[in-house]
Amino acid sequence: MRHRIEVMHGVNFDVLGSRNTAHYGGLTLTELEVKVKRFARELDMEPSFSQTNHEGDFCERLHRAGESADGIILNPGAWTHYSYAIRDALEVAGLPAVEVHLSAVDEREEWRRKSVIRDLCIASVQGKGVDGYHEALTLLKAKLES
Ligand code: DQA
Repeated sequence: MRHRIEVMHGVNFDVLGSRNTAHYGGLTLTELEVKVKRFARELDMEPSFSQTNHEGDFCERLHRAGESADGIILNPGAWTHYSYAIRDALEVAGLPAVEVHLSAVDEREEWRRKSVIRDLCIASVQGKGVDGYHEALTLLKAKLES
């Protein structure tokens, strides 16, 4: 069976195309998802996508992730840096997860260098733009097949 991967985006990703192009590349979320779908097809994986600007909704989605996915790719946006609620919900999900950031968060402002979810993830990919999602899918495939 093909591995099912829930690709979750958090706050402000609905307006990705209007955000700082130097950091985020100018792609809209829909364009990003089309590329991720293509990567997943190449790897024979099955992605599903969600985005919300509401932290509680993101948590509830994580609570239910195990019902429909084998692994998670998450880019919670700014929540990455301070949401212990999302951290706890990721622990509840109990699935292999990869944290992805389009920009190189460790090379930006000091407050972006902290991730409260990183140690729960099998890997963290940052600063590679949309290609980071390809890397995340590859890492999850290897983990799920090991
Ligand atoms: C981001 C980095 C975060 O610091 C920021 O708040 C975002 C996007 C990224 O993909 O580079 O919203 O997660």
